[in-house]
Amino acid sequence: MSNAIRFPEGFLWGGATAANQFEGGYNEGGKGLSTADVLTGGTHTIPRRITSTLEEGTNYPSHEAIDFFHRYKEDIKLFAEMGFKTFRMSIAWSRIFPNGDDAQPNEEGLKFYDSVFAELKKYNIEPLVTISHYEAPFGLTQKYNGWSDRRVIDFYVRYCEVIFNRYKDVVKFWLTFNEINCLTMPFGTFMAGAIMPEGNGELTNSSSDNAQIRFQALHHQFIASAKAVKLGHEINKNFNIGCMIAYMTSYPLTCNPDDMLLAQQKDSLNNFLCSDVQVRGAYPGFAKRYFKENNINIVMEENDEKILKEGCVDFYTFSYYMSVCVSADPNQEQIGGNLAIGLKNPYLKASDWGWQIDPKGLRLTLNNIYNRYQIPLMVVENGLGAVDTVEADGSINDDYRIDYLRQHIKEMKEAIADGVELIGYTPWGCIDLVSASTGEMKKRYGFIYVDKDNEGKGTLARSKKKSFYWYKKVIETNGEDLE
Ligand code: BG6
Repeated sequence: MSNAIRFPEGFLWGGATAANQFEGGYNEGGKGLSTADVLTGGTHTIPRRITSTLEEGTNYPSHEAIDFFHRYKEDIKLFAEMGFKTFRMSIAWSRIFPNGDDAQPNEEGLKFYDSVFAELKKYNIEPLVTISHYEAPFGLTQKYNGWSDRRVIDFYVRYCEVIFNRYKDVVKFWLTFNEINCLTMPFGTFMAGAIMPEGNGELTNSSSDNAQIRFQALHHQFIASAKAVKLGHEINKNFNIGCMIAYMTSYPLTCNPDDMLLAQQKDSLNNFLCSDVQVRGAYPGFAKRYFKENNINIVMEENDEKILKEGCVDFYTFSYYMSVCVSADPNQEQIGGNLAIGLKNPYLKASDWGWQIDPKGLRLTLNNIYNRYQIPLMVVENGLGAVDTVEADGSINDDYRIDYLRQHIKEMKEAIADGVELIGYTPWGCIDLVSASTGEMKKRYGFIYVDKDNEGKGTLARSKKKSFYWYKKVIETNGEDLE
């Protein structure tokens, strides 16, 4: 490991969250229902369900989540104690526009974020705001079938206009869509696209996937993102507006050229298609071929190419949890994953949820992205979802989490030594929150423990895990002391 290279001064250490997974207050302060609010709890083996109306007696984890809505002062104080320089959070779109297409924004919702940003400012914590993180107003699903309808672009841009103007002096860093590339996979239909899937309403059921609708919805998000970038820069030229990609690192299982080619094709389609459009402002050639071969016909308006070119992002952010292998041979052993189901890598261990842990893959990925785009990068999600045990004395000794993060931070440092311009790191779920894929609470990522279980029971009390003190020291020493 290189000693000469350090994290740059001003490196943005922090943590990441999303409104639908930690805010709660789902029907308070004039908030409307979001797509996350109709998702039931699930487990590692039982899929979450999408219910078109709220069922009595069913557990909807987003409704209370961890109640940041009422406890934000206490939580931000804890982030400040760890020394956070930045805090990634999202604005719940349906708190601002309860139905998505309302004529006027909800003032009470705007005031809530005024208070959150004021609290962050008190501690000099820079907000990094995701504008849409799996929580579109459910009204847009019911009335327009989500992003499949081009009219949703205007509702999104109007929402951006309102929040950009309102928070232009307190927020500098914005991300247009969380993990926009989820729409390249069936999994993203409802979560990322707000589109009601056909079939049995299971979140992860992909049997009725309609790629035409998915990719059309993705095109609408590209246009919306590009318009937002342009508008944001007009409102405040100092805004940094980024894309956010769920980076799926895939290795060829063997050096068989068929495996190599497949790994490259997956990288192109699932990772680079979206960022090529958002960073370079145009669809890449391989996308055109993929659309043609899969009978996908993207309906574009006359100005769309120009809009994309004029709305290129300022920086690239991504989530990185794991890697998978791919093989042209269909008889290989599958493993689980955040989005990418892939093959087992015999050199790697996996988390309790089957996600393969691969710190070196992060270095590789950082280099891979930077070599392509040469713009600043930020790792805005990374971490280990694990079951924590509270000891009799109340302590939580999460050495496994410390170890995971330490290994990944070491590799980020190596990537910086390789020449990658990495500007920040916000590990996921810095405070325990609801799992997006399963709706569970017991899949914990936090430095801060929240007393709540999968059934929604618990006092919601916060306590500091061993990793809290460890991460505080990491930040204090700007990544020098990782022990
Ligand atoms: C990312 C999402 O894919 O992974 C987050 O942006 C999510 O919303 C995170 O929570 C971890 O996934 P999970 O399923 O463990 O919560």
